[in-house]
Amino acid sequence: MEHYAVKGGNPLSGEVEISGAKNAALAILAASIMSNETVRIDNVPDVSDIRAILRAIENIGAVVERVDRHTFKINGALIKDAPIDDDYVKKIRGSYYLIGSLLGKYKRAEVTLPGGCNIGLRPIDQHIKGFRALGAEVRVEHGMIVADAGDLQGAHIYMDVVSVGATINIMMAASMARGMTIIENAAKEPHVVDLANFLNSMGAQIKGAGTDVIRIRGVERFHGTEYSIIPDQIEAGTFMFAAAATRGDVTIKNVIPKHLESLSAKLMEIGCQVEESDDAVRVVATKRLNHTHVKTLPYPGFPTDMQPQIAVVLGLSSGTSIVTESIFENRFKYVDELTRMGAQVKVEGNTAIIDGVSRYTGASIMAPDLRAGAALVIAALAADGFSQIHDIYYIERGYEDFPEKLRSLGAEIECVETEREQRKFEFRAG
Ligand code: EPZ
Repeated sequence: MEHYAVKGGNPLSGEVEISGAKNAALAILAASIMSNETVRIDNVPDVSDIRAILRAIENIGAVVERVDRHTFKINGALIKDAPIDDDYVKKIRGSYYLIGSLLGKYKRAEVTLPGGCNIGLRPIDQHIKGFRALGAEVRVEHGMIVADAGDLQGAHIYMDVVSVGATINIMMAASMARGMTIIENAAKEPHVVDLANFLNSMGAQIKGAGTDVIRIRGVERFHGTEYSIIPDQIEAGTFMFAAAATRGDVTIKNVIPKHLESLSAKLMEIGCQVEESDDAVRVVATKRLNHTHVKTLPYPGFPTDMQPQIAVVLGLSSGTSIVTESIFENRFKYVDELTRMGAQVKVEGNTAIIDGVSRYTGASIMAPDLRAGAALVIAALAADGFSQIHDIYYIERGYEDFPEKLRSLGAEIECVETEREQRKFEFRAG
């Protein structure tokens, strides 16, 4: 099996370009089939979750033309009313956005229950509550969600929890319902705003995305558009924390610094220098960093998708840090692997208590999910000696050219398959 071979110890330095946001792209590609006219989408990241959703929409009849690596033209005029239950769709979380888009456009959807990273229970009751409020009948049958509506009627919906997925799904269905929908306690993440901007560019009438209250006046049809997806806030954050962990100096380009403020604030608090310009951030770490407390929260709070990466940095910082995970209950699975690299971390419920050590040592470790996998790569880059990171298909779900981008910053990392290739890497890296 392919794995990453890493030799740690090099401070990362230089410039890196951030790709389009995976989680925005999943929603936007699902929404692109709502128009019968051609939609052109730029800055689509080339990662496996995106390839899966593209295949899913192609399988139900969308015409998908690849203009270049990151640009697609999509036409959803000939979509067939078929259940969506391909194996690859089961693996990705974003496949459930096809319920919102198909229900909005055709008033009917039949989609397999979503998969995605195993980071907790991940219920979908808020999505179902929203669809029902709009007048759909929703049932779960044979592993599929079936949503049916003679007519969708706008409604006033109060979300019981702040959910990115439910906000996005309800926004898509409501944008083609009759009349006005108001979503209260909506998620405010950048990709919620990006989807609203995309839908509006096709003719939707959505106001308030990025605040707690989103107002959607339904329209009958969408027209074609050209749209460029926002940069990936979590990919950018991952490189920011990789710079911090390796005591490097990295300029992360093609970002929206506003989306990174909770990350920049924590990095500065623990002793990094962070410089922002219009579309870049530079992170410099010259000395051992300090401890802190951090709690994950919905945007604009500290993102749960950055929790493993900050824990890896705090594991090398002086003093005792506390990391509290308040979004998903099963997001500390990487701690056992990090402990094998010498970290001192104790997990109690949803809290990790981290006693900083002065160094990690390389080890053979498994990526337990996407973000934790990336965090363990950061740990390996900061560690003394060689590491092997297995189960990298998790990482490839959401990071485009991860080893290549790290290598351009001076990291010694390669994707290898056999024992022989591993030995060659170790010989070359010395
Ligand atoms: C999205 O997941 C992202 N996935 C996740 O990124 C991210 O961690 C998460 O939002 C939080 O920011 C995609 O965009 C594809 P939620 P989602 O609904 O939509 C509870 C990554 O690594 N909840 O905002 O599934 C839920 O259990 C992935 O890229 C309900 O109770 O997350 C959780 O505690 C991992 N009922 C909280 O809400 C519901 O119906 C937030 O979940 C829905 C959610």
